[in-house]
Amino acid sequence: MSRPWPCWASRSIPACGTARSSRRPVAERRGGPSSASGITAREAAPDILLQGVTRDFGAVAALAPIDLRITGGAVTALVGPSGCGKSTLLRLLAGLIPPSRGHILVGAETPDALRRRAGLAMAFQDAALLPWRSVRGNVALGRALARRPRDPRADEALIGLVGLAGFETWRPAELSGGMRQRAAIARALAAAPELLLLDEPFGAVDELTRERLNAELPPLWETAGATVILVTHSVTEAVRLSDRVLVMTPRPARIAADIPVPLPRPRAEALAATERFAGICAAVRAALRSAEPAAGPR
Ligand SMILES: Nc1ncnc2c1ncn2[C@@H]1O[C@H](COP(=O)(O)OP(=O)(O)O)[C@@H](O)[C@H]1O
Ligand SMILES: [Mg+2]
Repeated sequence: MSRPWPCWASRSIPACGTARSSRRPVAERRGGPSSASGITAREAAPDILLQGVTRDFGAVAALAPIDLRITGGAVTALVGPSGCGKSTLLRLLAGLIPPSRGHILVGAETPDALRRRAGLAMAFQDAALLPWRSVRGNVALGRALARRPRDPRADEALIGLVGLAGFETWRPAELSGGMRQRAAIARALAAAPELLLLDEPFGAVDELTRERLNAELPPLWETAGATVILVTHSVTEAVRLSDRVLVMTPRPARIAADIPVPLPRPRAEALAATERFAGICAAVRAALRSAEPAAGPR
């Protein structure tokens, strides 16, 4: 099978701080700037900086002022109660909506500028596939919009990876919600973005497929050195996939806890049975509980 992720892929993620410590050294990952696999080094993904970022919708304050640095090349999971502002934060990071106050920078760029030059891709809950295009057409479009060369073999490999082999010619209306979600993930991966934003990407995906994606997607974005920000309702998924879990409070959301996940990669399913893994999950759950408001109307 050809490598589904394109060949600009791998680049340095220095081990610095807990959020990065579980990453393998770059030399080990790519075998030098131009390895036998043809993968060439890529500039390090820049850190993302949020300074005093708020977002209101009319009288509704969705986000309290958020100050945060997200490590470039790391996988960050956002967890928090429903309606707290997780999707709002991702849409701000995607440059789809502006902050009400404060600033967001991805390196020296605004998220809007990064999106305009196709440096980011997202797979959001509503999938947002083009209804008149097939699965294959939507995935190819992800690559084309990112101004990457056509690569039908890599597209097929991605479609296979998300479990949609055999459905290449099907249109979104003919697919289940979970299949649409997986097509959206394949399309986002085809764009080979520097910043990959995933909003509950496996929400409508069956348990076995979810497990397969949990195992097979991380090596892709790890090799590519993408910065990944992932919203999930599953604490175990957050810990399995990420270098760092941010726990958000109920609306207006702020970051209640910032929990590093210094577990080695690759992370097999069996890791979930270890005490270390359970300990981190317990810390995330405790932070979620303490972030909950006291009983009574808010
Ligand atoms: N476009 C919008 N217009 C009005 N209110 C919105 C809009 N988007 C989000 N909100 C409100 O902001 C809050 C946070 O929403 P959201 O970010 O979708 O939460 P989450 O993803 O954590 O479930 C909710 O109270 C929601 O109703
Ligand atoms: Mg949401």
